[in-house]
Amino acid sequence: MTDSLSLPAGPMGQWPQLEPGWVWLCGAGPGDPGLLTLHALNALRQADVVVYDALVEDTILDWAPQAERVYAGKRGGKPSAKQRDISLRLVDLAKEGKRVLRLKGGDPFVFGRGGEEAQTLIQHGVPVRIIPGISAGIGGLAYAGIPVTHRDVNQSVTFVTGHDQSGETPTSLNWKAIAEGAQVLVIYMGMKHVERIATALLDAGRPADEPVAVVCNATTPDQQVLETTLARMTADIAASALEPPAILCVGRSVLMRQVLDWQGLAAGQQPRNLDPLNRGRPAEVS
Ligand SMILES: C[S@@+](CC[C@H](N)C(=O)[O-])C[C@H]1O[C@@H](n2cnc3c(N)ncnc32)[C@H](O)[C@@H]1O
Repeated sequence: MTDSLSLPAGPMGQWPQLEPGWVWLCGAGPGDPGLLTLHALNALRQADVVVYDALVEDTILDWAPQAERVYAGKRGGKPSAKQRDISLRLVDLAKEGKRVLRLKGGDPFVFGRGGEEAQTLIQHGVPVRIIPGISAGIGGLAYAGIPVTHRDVNQSVTFVTGHDQSGETPTSLNWKAIAEGAQVLVIYMGMKHVERIATALLDAGRPADEPVAVVCNATTPDQQVLETTLARMTADIAASALEPPAILCVGRSVLMRQVLDWQGLAAGQQPRNLDPLNRGRPAEVS
């Protein structure tokens, strides 16, 4: 355990106090503890209890050595706490007068059920504070050298979940409209139904050779990136034995990894292509 991190002076000279009976609903970022916000660190310093999810790194929990740890992880297909039970546990802890930190992977309001938990807390009269975090679909792609927007590729980005509450591909999604309208698609929880997703996108007319990246365990020491295409991604993922958590990115911004794979460059690799979009000019010229 380490307690060596100290917070700089806070806004207006001090950081907010996590008062007894409050719940702070906080994003822990995609994995790398360094991607935590200062508000999150401030919360870790004060919490009596940290209720945390499966994708929260131990190092982050170690920054709250005084706090009781309550695991509330949910991983697809494995036995796990029910959402309602988690929310009510938070209510109980707050009513006991604890300073409660609810720590969720990425951003609590991005495919994280943070809205449901906050709603239940407020319905029970528990005061809450929301602390955003870096979502895997943005920060995870950045660690893979893929800019989620790039001026030469996209002026919009579409975030999609690969399965709904029932664990199936979301039926409420209009995959045809998404395929036709999304310039770049960032798909969370897409591994289980990757074949169905690929088929839906191809059937709706997305090009078979459209670049796809699969970024697993993004921002952690176990990060792995698979570059493939829409037509090949199902077979390539199966052959790779890659496992969730993973973000799928569909679109030409994936090509930028050929020049922006900064982790590969730091490890001594050369850029594969300095102009992967074939713009024929230095990218920064306005
Ligand atoms: C329940 S969602 C939570 C998303 C989270 N709230 C966020 O903003 O990143 C879990 C999914 O997020 C994605 N994810 C979270 N952390 C990840 C990571 N380190 N690497 C790749 N994907 C990740 C995966 O698609 C995973 O199945």
